[in-house]
Amino acid sequence: MSLARRIATTAGAIAVLALVPGPTSAQQVTWAEHVAPILYQTCVECHSPEGIGPMSLVDYQSARRYAARIRDMVASREMPPWHIDRDVGIQQYKNDVSLTDEEIATVVRWVDGGAVQGNVALAPPVPGLPSGTEWRLAEQFGPPDLVIRSTPFSVPESGLDSWWTPEIVVDGIDGPRWVMANETKPQYPMGRKVVHHANTNLIPAGEERGSGFTNFGVGKPFDIYPENTGQMVSPGDKVSFNIHYYPVGEAVADDVVEVGLWFYPEGETPRFATEGDVQWSSQREVMVDGAPLTMQQLVIPPHGRAVTQGIQRLDQNTRIHSCRGHMHLRGSSQQLEAVFPDGHTEILCKVNWNGLWHITYLFEDDVAPLLPAGTVLLVTAWYDNSEHNPVNPDPDQWVTYGRRSGDEMSHMWIGVTYLEEEDFEYLKDERQRRVAQQQ
Ligand code: HEC
Repeated sequence: MSLARRIATTAGAIAVLALVPGPTSAQQVTWAEHVAPILYQTCVECHSPEGIGPMSLVDYQSARRYAARIRDMVASREMPPWHIDRDVGIQQYKNDVSLTDEEIATVVRWVDGGAVQGNVALAPPVPGLPSGTEWRLAEQFGPPDLVIRSTPFSVPESGLDSWWTPEIVVDGIDGPRWVMANETKPQYPMGRKVVHHANTNLIPAGEERGSGFTNFGVGKPFDIYPENTGQMVSPGDKVSFNIHYYPVGEAVADDVVEVGLWFYPEGETPRFATEGDVQWSSQREVMVDGAPLTMQQLVIPPHGRAVTQGIQRLDQNTRIHSCRGHMHLRGSSQQLEAVFPDGHTEILCKVNWNGLWHITYLFEDDVAPLLPAGTVLLVTAWYDNSEHNPVNPDPDQWVTYGRRSGDEMSHMWIGVTYLEEEDFEYLKDERQRRVAQQQ
């Protein structure tokens, strides 16, 4: 290493140390005192013997064994799984699980300092972990008012991924009800390991198509709608499941995915009716080597890159409460941007795509975009078929549009509520009032 580079590295390290409020710069960073609290709070929910993570990080020995990988995954913000770009777009989310820069610096310093154990007496107790049999929202809302179950599916010990798409007719309610919150729960313990993601659409009785209803990608099993907002469910509506199962080396018989619904009290209609998640495409215009094509003509050459873009004009005032990307293995990022009627633009969210994680990012209520009618939304997607894409199965392949995971596509699921003028103004005023109060 050259002298200049060494000085640069040292200067960088000092700059990082200055940010750490926990351990002082002279103090040794230890597992017991500084790192275990971070792992317990952020990682062991998945990295425990029964969790979905590939290894447990509950005790010192295992954390030490994986120290180098932990350093890589934490420093690159791959772990914990939270892939919102931190440089652009809204940064306040209800379900943010990311680490602070200080916490990352602590973990990095711990590994670089030899992953020392320290005084075990100072380590916090191992936290009680959610067993996976209970509804997470039960603590807050009690048991669900209605549970919708997929029909059983058996996952073989090995072989190809399967998609299971049963449609279940809503039953067990007397009339229309307004959903306040929902949660998706695979069977425990094995269902949780074989369900890669499980989403549903809600198709109103007598109609063919519906909108996005509930989501389960690893990491976020529930959704609570914004204040005074609900989605209506009626007897006879259909809940259409889309479950992606993958084999994990052990056969799993008759798996069932449950969707729990919590309703507003009978007779109470929330002021705002959400459409649920609407799919907005970034597939209408494709630019490959500067030439526009339709999505069906998408061809990403070996070791090549591509960009696609879709435009959606809002005919009504709209509040957006969440965004979730969808691409396959060559996806590298997706961005949702608003072009306001006055011409100014704002990036709402940018997801650095990771094909393993289908996370719904829920905006904090006070920053959920309020967009006037006439706003144009731009969804841009970037694809990377080069060897620099860490999940690329084969950069030598030509990649085209299609449904299989080796093909490519791009759309975003956006949680929307359309608003009458009066409601739109009300929400804007409310927000201004609350923000002013906080200052
Ligand atoms: C929501 C569940 C979840 C949380 C929270 C989580 N992980 Fe993971 N982790 C996984 C899964 C699943 C994988 C397997 C690879 C993947 O899916 O990205 C993984 C992979 C890893 C790997 C790579 C293992 C290997 O074999 O190379 C490391 C290291 C890791 N996680 C560390 C952490 C740390 C440290 C934290 C907390 C700061 C954390 N994870 C939080 C689920 C999680």
